[in-house]
Amino acid sequence: MSTQDLASTYPAHLARMQSLAERALERGGFAHLLVPSGTIHYHLFDDRDYPYAVNPQFKAWAPLVRNPGSWLVYTPGERPKILYLQPYDYWHVVPDAPSGYWVEHFDVVVIRTPEEALQHLPAEAGRCAILGEASSAVGDYTPNNPAAVVNYLEYHRAVKTDYEIAMMRRATEHGVRAHRAAERAFRAGASEFGIHLAYCQAARQDANDLPYGNIVGLNEHAAVLHYTERDRVPPREIRSFLIDAGASHDGYACDITRTHAYDTTGEFQQLIEQVDAAELRICDRVRAGTDYADVHLHAHLEMATILHQAGIVDMAPESMVETGVSAKFFPHGIGHYIGLQVHDVGGFLASEEGGRIEPPAGHPYLRLTRRLEPGAVVTIEPGIYFAELLMKELAEGEHAGAVNWDRVDALRPYGGIRIEDEVVCTDGDPVNMTREGFAALD
Ligand code: GLY
Ligand code: MN
Ligand code: MN
Repeated sequence: MSTQDLASTYPAHLARMQSLAERALERGGFAHLLVPSGTIHYHLFDDRDYPYAVNPQFKAWAPLVRNPGSWLVYTPGERPKILYLQPYDYWHVVPDAPSGYWVEHFDVVVIRTPEEALQHLPAEAGRCAILGEASSAVGDYTPNNPAAVVNYLEYHRAVKTDYEIAMMRRATEHGVRAHRAAERAFRAGASEFGIHLAYCQAARQDANDLPYGNIVGLNEHAAVLHYTERDRVPPREIRSFLIDAGASHDGYACDITRTHAYDTTGEFQQLIEQVDAAELRICDRVRAGTDYADVHLHAHLEMATILHQAGIVDMAPESMVETGVSAKFFPHGIGHYIGLQVHDVGGFLASEEGGRIEPPAGHPYLRLTRRLEPGAVVTIEPGIYFAELLMKELAEGEHAGAVNWDRVDALRPYGGIRIEDEVVCTDGDPVNMTREGFAALD
């Protein structure tokens, strides 16, 4: 994937953004779309700033992720405009002059202060849909985030353009390279902190660049779904390693999880291989027209089957799903949309006008309940965990007798397993970007 691919696919992406914006404005009764890139935020009672996080509605238009105080201005029928803030500032590195494949498609106006934007915004502030945070307001141009406009854009963000998929492939290239480095560090006996640093070094990204905080858990820590503590010292005995870590490429994210056993001949390794094989079968269900909630429920059946076959729970897999027993071992959703945001927006939207499709009863953490369309990119991330709190609930519940507690106790020290890939829904077979990314390293 070269920059050329991005340059050649970008015009169609921008054309789609323009046509979506046109229809969104029509629905909301607005004449112009304004999207401020966002502002710098500060710690309370302090002059220390938080890392800048660009407004996703802004980076959807152009690969600009380090430009606070800038604006996208779009009036249907006119060329889109970027007000590009390049401040006079000798304390910080200011953004370079606008450059790259996106520039020729815009009227780019360099401004030197945020207030200078006022000279270049459409005259009629009342006819603007302004998508952004309150702190981006200048003059009468206060973000109003009209629901009709936001819902329309968020609904259609589910389908990615070729350009966006190329961007996500780039992010995946950084992520898989770093996952390999992390596994090497684990096998060499590094601490969680040391593995995290090896990952960042290989990805060439740190906390400010990564799309979410790395989850790097050894042993029991693998059972904590969002474990971000990172012990500085390795444990005396190293048994297992779960890493859920992504990477970014100009504002697009990847989200990858792998689980490794230190002893690759033991029963935890076998369990990992079973979850891995099931994950691939679930990925194969990412097909146009499929209800993603069904993919989630099927994943429960897959995990329950593994629990049954491994002698962990003596109960028919279907009953495990119906009674909620499988949810004690697999307590999160099977995945989510991904793109400009790791948990990309619109997962519950019933239509382009709004409305919400609730997750199935008993599955509150599922983040995507829509039918899949070609161009949708989703994660598939099944797991089996031996989490203290949930095992306790199971032990105190009515199905405790169906659980082989000796097996659970033998597996607790390994924490848990999650395998996560990103899959593109197409008109035909799904495309697993993560597996393709790892295969390209071999
Ligand atoms: N890394 C967060 C998730 O997998 O959804
Ligand atoms: Mn995920
Ligand atoms: Mn993840």
